Amino acid sequence: MDLQSVSTIRTVKDGVRPALRARELSTGGSGAPYEHLHLTPYSPTIGAEVSDIDLARPVEPEVLAELGRALLEWKVLFFRGQSLTAEQHAAFARHWGEPEIHPFLPKAGIPEVVRLAHDARSPGVENVWHSDVSFSATPPLGSVLRAVEVPEVGGDTLWADMAAAYDGLPDRVKEAVEGQSAVHDFLRSFGQLLTPEQVAKAREKNPPVEHPVVRTHPETGRKLIYVNRVFTERITGLPPEESRELLDLLYDQARHPEYQCRFHWRPGSIAFWDNRVTQHYAASDYFPRPRVMERVTIIGDRPR
Ligand SMILES: [Fe+2]
Repeated sequence: MDLQSVSTIRTVKDGVRPALRARELSTGGSGAPYEHLHLTPYSPTIGAEVSDIDLARPVEPEVLAELGRALLEWKVLFFRGQSLTAEQHAAFARHWGEPEIHPFLPKAGIPEVVRLAHDARSPGVENVWHSDVSFSATPPLGSVLRAVEVPEVGGDTLWADMAAAYDGLPDRVKEAVEGQSAVHDFLRSFGQLLTPEQVAKAREKNPPVEHPVVRTHPETGRKLIYVNRVFTERITGLPPEESRELLDLLYDQARHPEYQCRFHWRPGSIAFWDNRVTQHYAASDYFPRPRVMERVTIIGDRPR
């Protein structure tokens, strides 16, 4: 990147942020009708609620196929009033790939199901935009998150469409990040929760990994921003200050409401998101009330 483009980026970042240009937001979908699903979109580009489906029962292959297409088109699918055991939860996720056994988080009965529990003694900390486990060489394809105990008000989760966020970047920033890669490392977040011995052990299995700053979605072919504030350390080969400025600018793209949807949880609600193309943020506005969630994460492929 030349000095001219750096100074242009600085101007955008440090000055008054210009309003987003009006543009048509692409869903990435074919527009073809659904024969087996009833979908209610939450925004023009991301999030749709699927009604009239019971995930505790075996899901027919033609319904599964449409769920797969809906996930690619809407990036996050929401389901209400589901009553699933940990085994049924994992079985639903397994339709899309092998569940991950998370290296650090506590489990809920079976190893595939992670339990995320917060209360007055352990306040929520997921209120930073991120994609899950991007420190892995093969980060998750997606996650299926189920509400166990949630506050009546608050505790919402927001998702951002990072393909729409990429589309909305100024051309000069797209050029600056083209072909760049960035280092992702679990130490940035989980490092604070582990003892030095645990860190040393975890480091053996989880060395820092490099992923493209702009990833191409393996199924839709769309380009998307693939760096996040929780796990991305630096852009390879750039001076630290330049890397930080560019990363801050890319992280901030997730903050535009135009690229987001927001979901209010009720007991039995489920969200199934494509972790490759989205980032999420859990609002920590429910202290000191408890919020208990269970998550199954599906292993993905190496970002290209
Ligand atoms: Fe997360």
